[in-house]
Amino acid sequence: MAKHKTKSFNLSGANVAIIMDGNGRWAKKNTLNVTSGHEKGVDVVRRIVESAAQHKIASLSLYAFSTENWSRPKKEILGIKKLIISAINAQVPDLINQKVALKFFGDYQGFGPEVTKAIEGAELATNFSTPTLELNIALGYGGRADILQAVKLIGQDVASQNLKITEISDDLIFQHLKAPIKELDLLIRTGGDHRISNFLLYHLAYTEIQFLDTLWPDFTEQHFEQCLEEFMKTERRFGKRIL
Ligand code: IPE
Ligand code: IPE
Ligand code: MG
Repeated sequence: MAKHKTKSFNLSGANVAIIMDGNGRWAKKNTLNVTSGHEKGVDVVRRIVESAAQHKIASLSLYAFSTENWSRPKKEILGIKKLIISAINAQVPDLINQKVALKFFGDYQGFGPEVTKAIEGAELATNFSTPTLELNIALGYGGRADILQAVKLIGQDVASQNLKITEISDDLIFQHLKAPIKELDLLIRTGGDHRISNFLLYHLAYTEIQFLDTLWPDFTEQHFEQCLEEFMKTERRFGKRIL
């Protein structure tokens, strides 16, 4: 088979996010258990991260586990926990080689101290001041919970008179959100559903959104490049009249 030729787009500075959906259906389709679907999903993450770094994207934010996903069966959550630890151990050396800065955001304490320790170690080991790519993993993340905790922090500062109501701005809200990005340029959702599932709610105001039927374990660099190509063709008007 001919080796896939890498295309190059000028995407420097773009913030891209992906709702990586479809692992369960992929596993079912291949008569495998759901954990095997998540395992295949981790393989895909590795390849898409490399592609994102090659295309000079500023940040890639991946939705790995939502606040709502805590209601999944204990066995599935345990499988995901083991997978997070093994993926961190296996992939951090590659991320260091590629100078990719890894960050996790969300309430992931529910996975237990081993996961927290692995995350802290990985973040420290990849804490580059000028990374090739910022890789942000949303784990135990919910857009509403993020907005809620930001509102509480800002409210506390107002109550203790450290902040005036007139000083509350868009920038200040972004500063208090746990998601480590500001404007999001492109959101891709695999798996065929056309919804946000409580991802980066505040950040999505002017995001280009692409929904793909492909299940996440079947998603390839070629699919990713097609998404980027499509994004590059989009005229972003931000409410202005462009004639
Ligand atoms: C996404 O795949 C991964 C997680 C939510 C952890 P799913 O497990 O939701 O896959 P489907 O939607 O059931 O196919
Ligand atoms: C969204 O997928 C969350 C992640 C990909 C981590 P879900 O499978 O949880 O979303 P719903 O349940 O279809 O909305
Ligand atoms: Mg799903």
